[in-house]
Amino acid sequence: MSPTLRTPLCEQLGIDVPILQAGMGNVAYGRLAAAVSNAGGLGSIGGIDITPEQVDEEIRLFRELSDGPLCVDLGFPANAPKGLSDVDVPELPGPLRQLKAELDERGIEVTATTDQAISLADNKKKLEISLDHGVEVIACALGTPAWVVEACHARGAKVISIVGQAKHARSAIRNGTDVVVVQGTEGGGHTGDVGLITLLAEVLEFSTVPVVAAGGLVKGAQIAACLTMGAQGAWVGTRFLASEESGSEDVFKQAVVEAEYDSTLRSLLFDGLHVRMLRNRFTEVWEGHEDELSPYPVQRVLTMPFKYAAMKARLKTHMSMPSGAGAGMITDLPGAAEILERLVEETVEALRGVEKTVEFS
Ligand SMILES: Cc1cc2nc3c(=O)[nH]c(=O)nc-3n(C[C@H](O)[C@H](O)[C@H](O)COP(=O)(O)O)c2cc1C
Repeated sequence: MSPTLRTPLCEQLGIDVPILQAGMGNVAYGRLAAAVSNAGGLGSIGGIDITPEQVDEEIRLFRELSDGPLCVDLGFPANAPKGLSDVDVPELPGPLRQLKAELDERGIEVTATTDQAISLADNKKKLEISLDHGVEVIACALGTPAWVVEACHARGAKVISIVGQAKHARSAIRNGTDVVVVQGTEGGGHTGDVGLITLLAEVLEFSTVPVVAAGGLVKGAQIAACLTMGAQGAWVGTRFLASEESGSEDVFKQAVVEAEYDSTLRSLLFDGLHVRMLRNRFTEVWEGHEDELSPYPVQRVLTMPFKYAAMKARLKTHMSMPSGAGAGMITDLPGAAEILERLVEETVEALRGVEKTVEFS
């Protein structure tokens, strides 16, 4: 018989096990989300990096593949541009001129992209589309404005907020979020600088809503530790990136499998906000040139054409590859359902194991 793992969060989100697959740009599409929701977790579509039309298509695909609940992950940073015309783009800085020369040498063209630098107009459209589809959960990355919570609650959707600092958890709770995802610095993608075990303890002291742990979680024993502390679930990214159904390029998945414990770094080079990613030539060109970084959103507008050109060419040395620090423990590329099953089994085993090693009364 397969093990049971439930917390009150399961009831709240309509899921069987408290494992949430994280929203990941260019990785988490309808197919991955459906595989996770069909296996009893919560599947998410990473809506930030794709167009409103693609968000619509991926939600439709999810609904064809699954009857389970769906989360769409969107971004509402406080300093988001209203639209791209708001952003004044300077000349290419030295590191990007260097990257351009290297891509040119390989015959790879760097062209304009559809990325809107997480613009407010773009994300509002995506939110409307998601709510029109009756999406059950909206995840807010990079800030949870009260108007987003109100819009979601008015349409019956729950809101989860991903935070990297205790003060951001406080403001998300004040603005009415239903769940707080506390992401430690170990996490892939946008991430803060506080370790998960510290941040989780801090937020659990005051949170009035369920708290979910994130950042570097690739083994059930880690999830068991977070549940023991008082978390009600786990938001897992990189482990699901390295799965059959993830939409990332095979070379990216392979890079995660090959990663070691020190293969990631946290840098502003991606978009002017701190992002954890795999080290490669795309990150190396910035070493010693930090003074040429622009703030968000300008840095994002500058780097996106490079990200997409390298991605299209499957050139992993020059691709942008966000990844959590747990990548060093990932050694295979199974199906998402198998990953979920393993995580549940390992979590239960670790929870049971405590009684064997710890005496308490
Ligand atoms: C490739 C990749 C892309 C990501 N893109 C997004 C995103 O678009 N929106 C978002 O809220 N978080 C994004 N994240 C962060 C995840 O939602 C999640 O918080 C993180 O992956 C958790 O840490 P872990 O990867 O160590 O499990 C991304 C993470 C990765 C690895």
